[in-house]
Amino acid sequence: NSCKMCKSADGKLESFVASKQFETAFHRTEDQKQKCGFGLQGVCCRLCANGPCRITSKSPRGICGADADTIVARNFLRAVASGSACYIHIVENTALNLKHVGETKGLIKSQKALDYLADKLGIDELDKYEKCIKVADVVLDDLYKPRHKKMELVDKIAYEPRIKKWKELGIMPGGAKSEVFDGVVKSSTNLNSDPVDMLMHCLSLGISTGLYGLTLTNLINDIMLGDPVIRMAPVGFRVIDEDYINIMITGHQHSTFSSFQEKLTQPEVVKLAKKAGAKGFRLVGCTCVGQDLQLRGEHYQDIFSGHAGNNFTSEAVLSTGAIDMVISEFNCTIPGLEPIADKLNVKMICLDDVAKKKNAEYIYLDRNKYDEIDMKLINEALESFKSRRSKVQIDIPRDHGYEESLTGVSEKNLKEFLGNSWKPLVDLIANGTIKGVAAIVGCSNMTAGGHDINTVELTKELIKRDILVLSAGCSTGGLENVGLMSPGSEELAGENLKTVCKTLGIPPVLNFGPCLAIGRLEIVATELAEYLGIDLPQLPLVLSAPQWLEEQALADGAFGLALGLPLHLALPPFITGSKVVTEVLTESLKDITGGHVIVNQDPKSSADQLEEIIIDRRQKLGLKE
Ligand code: SF4
Ligand code: FE2
Repeated sequence: NSCKMCKSADGKLESFVASKQFETAFHRTEDQKQKCGFGLQGVCCRLCANGPCRITSKSPRGICGADADTIVARNFLRAVASGSACYIHIVENTALNLKHVGETKGLIKSQKALDYLADKLGIDELDKYEKCIKVADVVLDDLYKPRHKKMELVDKIAYEPRIKKWKELGIMPGGAKSEVFDGVVKSSTNLNSDPVDMLMHCLSLGISTGLYGLTLTNLINDIMLGDPVIRMAPVGFRVIDEDYINIMITGHQHSTFSSFQEKLTQPEVVKLAKKAGAKGFRLVGCTCVGQDLQLRGEHYQDIFSGHAGNNFTSEAVLSTGAIDMVISEFNCTIPGLEPIADKLNVKMICLDDVAKKKNAEYIYLDRNKYDEIDMKLINEALESFKSRRSKVQIDIPRDHGYEESLTGVSEKNLKEFLGNSWKPLVDLIANGTIKGVAAIVGCSNMTAGGHDINTVELTKELIKRDILVLSAGCSTGGLENVGLMSPGSEELAGENLKTVCKTLGIPPVLNFGPCLAIGRLEIVATELAEYLGIDLPQLPLVLSAPQWLEEQALADGAFGLALGLPLHLALPPFITGSKVVTEVLTESLKDITGGHVIVNQDPKSSADQLEEIIIDRRQKLGLKE
């Protein structure tokens, strides 16, 4: 492929993609370079048949009279509502899966995680299965409340000073699904025209998305899938082994295939693979669900090869020819996978119709038929392996990625690692050895300078400034594939952080796994603030989703803003056409929740800005300079 291609921070990935004959996002980015200026600024409205209306200085209102502020706010609220809906879908299914475990006396992988969560939610129950049902029920009950009934668990899981603030502002969310529903209503034709009201609605959505879709999803998954364990693991294309029947997983709902995952470990199933001429079955991690499996990889060593890469690495993973089947259950399963799968005879299966791919077989996940479904998946993988391997060429770039990358970090085990207390970390921050903490989260996109380029460059700039980086999401997949979580990465850190890394044996970037783990980062931040007796906006902690991609990322962002954190984005979220929306998000919000949006596409000056905020907060706390 000699055509111009988008760049990646991952040079080996870039040359692998260039060496193949498959069209990928790397190629299409070039064809889509010309962006629509109205869309970019959020001032194109096509809510009614009078449109599309486009706002310019000469035509400042749409036919209905809506101005740029209303149009931008409506578009933004719709995006945040969609993103919230995605995460709420995930937590709903996750809770239903836990309920099923309770009802059928299924597999509880971590009793400790169950006790921890039940305790957090104030559930007193001795029988472990009943406990699962009760935990699931209180979560589901909250999700299904009408909007005028406030969600009850917010008081149990959020940080006290924040709850107070949210109550003052009147942004405590009602039932999460109803919040999404009314967000859609509000942003429909000729309804709400008040940009500030719509932005406040975004904050409510941020709270319900964050506490339920993010935080609770992880805590429930820990029960069914096992607690994360800190360990070294290989990352990148090198994890793919052609001797196995390889099943690539994409999505976000790990518990949808927990039964299948267990099934793969059974000796009679391994025998089936051997009979077909393979050494066994292997799950190859891709996108966030791969990150989640990597996080819990300690429990799945026999069947998990490792994490290969993030969303925009997935087409290349498929191009190796070594993948025999793709199981997807949610988003970040990009449509570009379809033609490659067709060409390479790769069977595609979807386990949730919200993410049904055109060329995939959809299997309805009847929770009472897991055995049958698991066997169907196994047989499909066997068939695919047998029929395709003689027809395709396999090319795995074995030098891609790293043999050792630190993974499995969670809010619980990080604290344990530090001696069951946040004191050592707080001390390092207080005495200035670690200047502060930056959470680098969210996705990977192709437009903020190229695939993962902004994420990687910004991270390097931050660690150089002795700022510890915690990471979650597809950004993590990019960071680990360029070695930022591998031994030796500490050399890229500033002198002080480097010493800490060497002493503790950790990299300067800690891998919390999927985007869902932003919920784990929220717990870390909250516990640090609690330890210090301060509110979140006072912490020397910043948030950045440099290469945010999806509507979900905007809902995550709304959570960060509700928490009162500074949120950096390399690209603006289609708001620049509105003075009011831009002003509220980048300035006024500081006096409302304490958070604000920073838009900056230059990694170096972004790091300067974030460092400045950290230094300012240190000064206000009276910490050593
Ligand atoms: Fe134009 Fe108003 Fe219709 Fe939007 S809702 S397309 S601004 S007339
Ligand atoms: Fe994700």
